[in-house]
Amino acid sequence: MVKFVCDNYNEMSRLAADIMAGQITGKPFSVLGLPTGDTPIGAYMELAKKRLDFSGVSVFCLGEYYPINRKNNQSHYYQLFDGFINKINMKRENVHILNGETDNPDEECKRFDEKISHAGGMDMAVLGIGVNGHIGFNEPSQSLVLKTHLCDLTARTIEENSKFFGSDEVTPHKSLTMGMDAIFSAKRILLLANGNSKADAVSRIFSGAVTTSCPATMLNLHHDVTIIMDKEAAAKIQAE
Ligand code: GLP
Repeated sequence: MVKFVCDNYNEMSRLAADIMAGQITGKPFSVLGLPTGDTPIGAYMELAKKRLDFSGVSVFCLGEYYPINRKNNQSHYYQLFDGFINKINMKRENVHILNGETDNPDEECKRFDEKISHAGGMDMAVLGIGVNGHIGFNEPSQSLVLKTHLCDLTARTIEENSKFFGSDEVTPHKSLTMGMDAIFSAKRILLLANGNSKADAVSRIFSGAVTTSCPATMLNLHHDVTIIMDKEAAAKIQAE
């Protein structure tokens, strides 16, 4: 596991964009896994500024609320297009986002996994991290699910997400998420974390224990993980 501690959010974003740009220029037909949320917004802005050719790149978004209309400005669909895809020349047919309006979530999740397999897995999965250590929407639990699935969000995640929706009542209580299998199929994983609220979860990654009660700790089992943090998110990592 490689870690970078940056002075601030902008530096974290620039470094993440440089690493993602290196992936795309090195392999113009890269398959990426991408998160939404506040964390990657700066990295997407920096990456879009580089004016790279994304015409061969494919993207699988890590999750989507359920149920949600894609036109809702809090949907992952809206956020990914608004924050990134609309600023680059990626082909729309190469953008794969779970359908938060489906009547058949199981079928939707199965199709999504098939598309990832068909694409040959991901070259790079970029991840954010929840305050409780979730990755994608794989929430802390006694066991983690391998496949893409519909999951119940924890009270803590619902509370966190209410910052986007305005209140717990209107915040979705379920989500579709890429499972651990697809995330681990990525050849490289890049996790971004900023701010004090992520410090506990980040410190658990580096604690040496692997536990489903903090899904991000599972990343210790992957062979190519880079974690980029700002100083606040890194503040509780014990000195090695
Ligand atoms: C959300 C998403 C994740 C995201 C995380 C952190 O619930 N499912 O993909 O990485 O929580 O969000 P933020 O970056 O806004 O802190």
